[in-house]
Amino acid sequence: MAALATTIRVAVIGAGAMGSGIAHVAARAGHVVYLYDMNADAVARGKAGIEKDLRFLVGKGKLAEADCMDTLERVRATSRIEDLADAGLLVEAIVENLEIKQQLFAQLEVMTAPEAILATNTSSLSITAMASTLKRPQRLAGLHFFNPAPRMALVEIVSGLATDPAVATTLYDTAKAWGKVPVRASSTPGFIVNRVARPYYAEALRILAERAATPATLDAILRESCNFPMGPFELMDLIGHDVNYAVTRSVFEAYFGDKRFTPSLIQQELVLAGRLGRKSGQGFYDYREGADRPQP
Ligand code: NAI
Repeated sequence: MAALATTIRVAVIGAGAMGSGIAHVAARAGHVVYLYDMNADAVARGKAGIEKDLRFLVGKGKLAEADCMDTLERVRATSRIEDLADAGLLVEAIVENLEIKQQLFAQLEVMTAPEAILATNTSSLSITAMASTLKRPQRLAGLHFFNPAPRMALVEIVSGLATDPAVATTLYDTAKAWGKVPVRASSTPGFIVNRVARPYYAEALRILAERAATPATLDAILRESCNFPMGPFELMDLIGHDVNYAVTRSVFEAYFGDKRFTPSLIQQELVLAGRLGRKSGQGFYDYREGADRPQP
């Protein structure tokens, strides 16, 4: 088995934080990438975000101007799903909801070539369940990047019960060719990283609920004494509370209500208030212009 040739077109569905990051990675590796979202504004924001990230690399001397322009030219932004028909790898990064992802894959299955690989960037949902409504479930696997996708090396390659091992191997080799560090996992709730990370977020949220310390203090402790690049509250604000809460709920339900994975009411309140973190301007911290950053 070998990595997908760079002549294979890649489609990324969902142009939010993860989709635009994955499109960036695939385009840098040499593929033409269709970046699709049902929301035309999200497509424009996603492409602008890729350009900003590439320009940052040019400014730092890590990317040549010509490579930046070539990469941008390979990213074809679209809000017409029919434009994805000739893609050989389709990676979904839409909302973390099983039924909505199944509906999308049912649509993609009929419009793409039978040998095209269908991949999901889900953080927690069952690959087996997601594939179960397909006519050819063997061609679906998890291709789980971390945020921000251009900078984070790890990618989980997740096989469901029906996934063809050759599909998982192609994804593994392709992730490697894209400069990532792939690991294989089978479809269990939250896979590896999100399984381990759930109790970490939950404990931080419990400490906050007990008013033992503020988010700024807890983040500073984890950063400065444990050498984490970000504290748990900064990280949840980066991930987005809608996504993080949906992932916790999904893992909690999938493990039959195991208390270790109990979702937090604090996070539920943030979601209900629309305080989704960096992407909405407010979460545990206030990212709006002129807002003060609280001291630990
Ligand atoms: P996001 O909220 O930033 O972006 C999601 C995008 O999908 C939005 O632009 C929305 O318009 C679009 N969308 C929703 N339903 C759609 C549909 N039916 N068809 C086409 N477009 C649709 O979300 P984010 O953070 O990029 O997450 C996307 C996926 O990646 C989720 O499954 C999440 O669990 C997973 N993920 C998220 C990580 C994170 O740190 N945010 C990390 C790794 C995985």
